[in-house]
Amino acid sequence: MKANVLLLTLVLSLGLAACGEKKEPESAATAETATPAAAMEASPTAAESHEAAADAGGTVDAQGLYAAKCASCHGATGQGVADNPKLAGLTSADIESRLRDYRDGKQRGPKTAIMASMAKSLTDEQITSLAGYLGE
Ligand code: HEC
Repeated sequence: MKANVLLLTLVLSLGLAACGEKKEPESAATAETATPAAAMEASPTAAESHEAAADAGGTVDAQGLYAAKCASCHGATGQGVADNPKLAGLTSADIESRLRDYRDGKQRGPKTAIMASMAKSLTDEQITSLAGYLGE
C-alpha cells in the first residue's frame, strides 16, 4: 500500500514535471499555428457580416453597380454614349420611376426592350440607390 502511494506520487510528480517542461515550447508552437488559423477564421466571419449588412439593405454600392452595368451605354458620368440617352440632368425621382417602368415592362422610348432587360434584374433597393446616385 505504502509503495503504491509512493509510486503514485512519483508518477504524478514526473507527470507534472514533464508538463512543466513541455509548457513553453508547446505554447510557442500553439501560438505559431494559431495565427494563420485565426486569420482563416476571421475572413468568413467578415464575409458573413458583410452579407448580413447587405441583406439588411442600405449597402448597395450604386457607384460600383453603375460602373459595372450601366456606364458602358450611358457613359461614366451619365453623359450618354452614341444612341443611348444621357442620364445627367434627370432628377432622382425621374430615374427611379423610369427604371421601375422598364422593369415592369412598360413601353417608354423606342428602345424600351434594351432597358427592360437591364432593369429586370434590379432590386427595389438597387433602383433607389442608383436613382440617388445618378439624380440631380
Ligand atoms: C445596352 C445599353 C444600355 C445599358 C447597359 C443600360 N442602358 Fe439605360 N438606356 C439604354 C437605352 C437605349 C435607353 C433608351 C430606352 C428607350 O427607348 O426608352 C435607356 C434609357 C435609360 C433611362 C431613361 C432615360 C430617359 O431619358 O428617359 C434610364 C434612367 C436608364 N436608361 C438607366 C440605366 C441604368 C441605371 C442602367 C444600369 C442598371 C442602364 N440604364 C443600363 C441603354 C442602356
